[in-house]
Amino acid sequence: MPDSSMTPPERTVAIACDHAGVTLKATLKQDLAAHGYAVIDLGTDGTQSVDYPDYADALAATIADGRAGKGVLVCGTGIGISIAANRNPAVRAAVVHDVETARLSRAHNDANVLALGARVTPEAQARDCLAVFLTTPYEGGRHETRVAKLGPRNSPNPSAPARQAGG
Ligand code: RB5
Repeated sequence: MPDSSMTPPERTVAIACDHAGVTLKATLKQDLAAHGYAVIDLGTDGTQSVDYPDYADALAATIADGRAGKGVLVCGTGIGISIAANRNPAVRAAVVHDVETARLSRAHNDANVLALGARVTPEAQARDCLAVFLTTPYEGGRHETRVAKLGPRNSPNPSAPARQAGG
């Protein structure tokens, strides 16, 4: 596996999970290495119950500070851990259930974090989602203005706290 400290961010993927996602994370980590990516593994690695926001925050930080170009998050459903990651303005995390939603998350939404639910998505399907997520380019074009509006400076809520743009 390439050394993440020696690898450019676009070839580096961070991965993290809670206790529900440990087995799937291990499999996806192997897949990332097989695809030639350096991997920053942020845990968790055991079955002891943990709080998914802690792992989402750690992963979001690697995106925000440029250590990783993309991220993969796994919890039971993919929902909680994606909600947590999306609090960081550098992150566009998409919960994905099949290859079509994986493809569209990249092509239309320029998602930089793939969120998967280990309890709801079979392993083979999750692996296919990862492969598609890694290889599908962002289409841009008509999606540009929409994705730009996902950024913190375009909040429709004028009372929303200002946040730093990140990605
Ligand atoms: C943990 O039991 C579970 O709640 C978590 O993995 C996730 O599914 C939350 O969204």
